[in-house]
Amino acid sequence: MKVVLKKGLSSDLSTLVVFAAKNKKDGKAVFTKLSPDLNKLTEFAQNDSGFAGDKKETCFFRRAEVDGYTNVLFVGLGDASKVDNESLRVAAAVVYGSLKSHKVTSAGVHADSALKFFRDSASALQALSEGFGLCDYDFDELKSSAKKDSKKDKKPELKEISLLLTNAPTAAQTKAVQRAEILAECQNFTRWLGDHPGNFITPTMLAEETVKAAKGTGLKVTVWDLPKIKKERFGGLLAVAQGSAQEPRVIVMEYNGAGKSKKPIAFVGKGLTFDSGGISLKPGASMEEMKYDMCGGAAVIGTMLALAKLKAKVNVIAVVPSTENMPGPAALKPGDVYVARNGKSVEVFNTDAEGRLILGDALTYASEQKPAALFEAATLTGAILIALGNTHTGVFTRDSKLMSKIQEAADTTGELVWPMPLNDFHVDDMKGTHADLCNISGGRLAGSSTAAAFLEQMVEDGVPFAHFDVAGTAWNIASRFPYHPKKGASGIMVRTFVELAETF
Ligand code: BES
Ligand code: ZN
Ligand code: ZN
Repeated sequence: MKVVLKKGLSSDLSTLVVFAAKNKKDGKAVFTKLSPDLNKLTEFAQNDSGFAGDKKETCFFRRAEVDGYTNVLFVGLGDASKVDNESLRVAAAVVYGSLKSHKVTSAGVHADSALKFFRDSASALQALSEGFGLCDYDFDELKSSAKKDSKKDKKPELKEISLLLTNAPTAAQTKAVQRAEILAECQNFTRWLGDHPGNFITPTMLAEETVKAAKGTGLKVTVWDLPKIKKERFGGLLAVAQGSAQEPRVIVMEYNGAGKSKKPIAFVGKGLTFDSGGISLKPGASMEEMKYDMCGGAAVIGTMLALAKLKAKVNVIAVVPSTENMPGPAALKPGDVYVARNGKSVEVFNTDAEGRLILGDALTYASEQKPAALFEAATLTGAILIALGNTHTGVFTRDSKLMSKIQEAADTTGELVWPMPLNDFHVDDMKGTHADLCNISGGRLAGSSTAAAFLEQMVEDGVPFAHFDVAGTAWNIASRFPYHPKKGASGIMVRTFVELAETF
């Protein structure tokens, strides 16, 4: 589907979409100035259908034949005093769903009817376009009905959405829509990687798809094979990988958009392509969801693609360690000890706490590059779901300035984050008995914080570091954010990581 910005309200598209917010005082819908015929239709919508501009409310007029349009769709934005960029992403999802259910294949969106409620029209247009771009994702390629020659289940496709402005678009508005397109495309790529089952996206395939996607973007991608991983002493990655028939990989991505003297921002992401738990095997229920255990890595890959495509003026480096966690004959056993890249010995009491093992070496390697900041994303703990549910990504950092920057970036992109505790108590909990560290704490409490404390032990001193636990937000979040797929990967953190890198 194309999202294009156009001047003028007349077009050859079949359906016109008009937004309205709700005036909390009189309970009535607030519309922008419209043509006389459209005004008449707003009267019908309000008087006959009770349309009041509520959030997610719709009113569809088939064969309205107004201003050259066959159909007209009114969509509510909610309380007029609270309309924000997120309201527009949500409204885009409502428009998308309604147009699809009415089998509309192209539509014009009366953009000014939404922009009326904003001071910054460019960022509002960006949010609206992001919403449409993010809705335009469906992972159906493994269904036989998706095959090119299949006639079964073919629904009419929504091919174009034009954002119609009364005046000619400004340079900032045009740029904002282009930016949204790149961000949505890269977030959708992250989702696409995440939605693939473990037998399709193995570590080798994750690396190959990354190399393919990076072609022509200016990104440098280097893939480490087993001998190189051994040479680089990634002890934690090797320890986890030894239980799997699949070879591990490390994907290193670099993008230099700024001068050589500028320190890079580093990203690390967990690329666990399937987590069975290993010898500490997980229970069967919902184990299939552990194909999503590479979503942190996929978010980092999507971020790097977006920064390159946006030609961001930053230097960035990303490291994605990738393996399966399987209970094969050579698998790591509870009690085993390995030595991490930074020389610390680790006893593994629970092989299901494997993310921290593979991330540890990547964090050490990334911090050796002396980055200005190090951001790492992982589906690390079930405990973060208990703490934050599927709304907020948990952020762990001891650096309050870094936390403010993260909060600011997330406020801009609309992805929700929440600061979580990380201190020396949690480090104490991760001390080993017969090794320097243990991979689990003695108790069950504060499991997300103790996991973060383990990761921190692998980061070199002096590197500003933040860990993002995305276990609750990397998939199945459409119940909160309707522009995400009903079931499947969300691509969370791509937009916030891009924003962070650009504004750091
Ligand atoms: N990948 C899981 C974390 C996870 C669980 C993500 C559920 C999403 C949903 C991770 O590798 C894991 O298994 N962590 C354990 C750690 C425990 C053994 C200390 C967990 O959270 O149970
Ligand atoms: Zn695990
Ligand atoms: Zn895991």
